[in-house]
Amino acid sequence: MQEIMAVVLAAGKGTRMKSKNSKLVQKIFGKEIIRRAVDNAKNAGIDRIIAVVGYKKEQVMSVLGDDVEYAEQKEMLGTGHAVMQATKFLEGKKGKVLILNGDHPIIRPETLKNLFEVSNERQESATVLTIMHNEEIPYGKIIHDEEGKVVEIVEYKDCNEEQLKIRELNLGMYCFDIEELLKALKELKTDNAQNEYYLTDVVKIMYNKGLKTGSVVVTDTAEVLGINDRMDLQVLTKALQLRINTEHMKNGVTIEDINTTYIYDDVKIGIDTVIHPNTTIKSNVEIGEDCEIGPNAYIREECKIADNVKIGSFVELKKTTVGKGTKIPHLTYMGDCEVGENTNVGCGTITCNYDGSSKSKTIIGNNCFIGSNSNFVAPVNVGDNSFVAAGSTITEDVPEDSLAIARERQTNKEGWNK
Ligand code: UD1
Ligand code: MG
Repeated sequence: MQEIMAVVLAAGKGTRMKSKNSKLVQKIFGKEIIRRAVDNAKNAGIDRIIAVVGYKKEQVMSVLGDDVEYAEQKEMLGTGHAVMQATKFLEGKKGKVLILNGDHPIIRPETLKNLFEVSNERQESATVLTIMHNEEIPYGKIIHDEEGKVVEIVEYKDCNEEQLKIRELNLGMYCFDIEELLKALKELKTDNAQNEYYLTDVVKIMYNKGLKTGSVVVTDTAEVLGINDRMDLQVLTKALQLRINTEHMKNGVTIEDINTTYIYDDVKIGIDTVIHPNTTIKSNVEIGEDCEIGPNAYIREECKIADNVKIGSFVELKKTTVGKGTKIPHLTYMGDCEVGENTNVGCGTITCNYDGSSKSKTIIGNNCFIGSNSNFVAPVNVGDNSFVAAGSTITEDVPEDSLAIARERQTNKEGWNK
């Protein structure tokens, strides 16, 4: 099988984001736009990815690392110019290449795969991914001839009144015949509203040569939109939130309020678990069956929660494992912690896991009772079946089956107020 290549465009300034940073390192649910774009391409089965970097290239490269190869665009002269910088990777090659805008982070891998397959089947020199959209968004407009071929893509800023009415829009994802692309790139000019080399003009050049050009229309609008400004960032965050939450609900999880539940990628949740409102669950978290989470819970990265666990209001967990049947119902922070099975963690419990320079672990056994407002100055262990008295600051290990009390005795000064 021939290797499948993609060129991902990631050199643009992203002026509309109004940021000190490259727009492509803005995050959605903790993952950078460009990371998402590249991961989607990888998950579509693309073997080799060339990222064109330029503006704030060190930021983009530090996100992508060795996962891609790089071409550099020194001057940002448009999307066509960006692809020209990657030609050395394409020269001498036959077959197809995908060119992908780097600012469409939640496109489904299957959609990219389909673009590639349809382009091959129809034997088109250029196939453009598009959507039908009724709202006024400043994307390139697709013009077809009577046979359905794509004649050209007219950029929003270059449209006349008639063209502005066109509803089919360019998503900036293309499958091209490599040899024809290389030829067409040489013919690009900058005679347009933005004085840029538009990649989109490649389609017109190919069409005018009599080559086959077409479009693949995507139906799920939310999936494919790009990010140019902060409002787009919000729209796509909401779209991804809905997609992820829907997936969990399909898999047997109850989510009381999909609008205020934020579940990042790569979270596993067992059936019959209920997620109450205002809950955030970050990446690489596993939650078992029959759990109750929230309202107002914050479960950060790398937590593992077994079956039948309750994590209640204003509870924050980080790198923490919680055993079966354990309850952590309110106002608690547990970081770098292991809690055993059937333990009750009282209101206001805090693990003091950070001493200003390093993090340490708290280990609490099975069947323990942790009284309210306890602090655990890590590293510290509490053995199975032990009690910790409310208000204790635990600095030393507690053996199993014990009661630990670590607080001042109360003194009453009678008549003091008089
Ligand atoms: C582009 C398309 C437009 C399409 C839209 C979809 C062109 C001319 N227009 O417009 O038809 O509807 O995407 O989102 O292609 N980039 C570079 N170098 C550059 C300029 C851009 O690498 O010199 C990169 C950007 O980082 C970005 C991508 O190319 O990832 C698209 O650039 P952007 O400026 O966002 O293009 P749009 O105006 O959105
Ligand atoms: Mg864009």
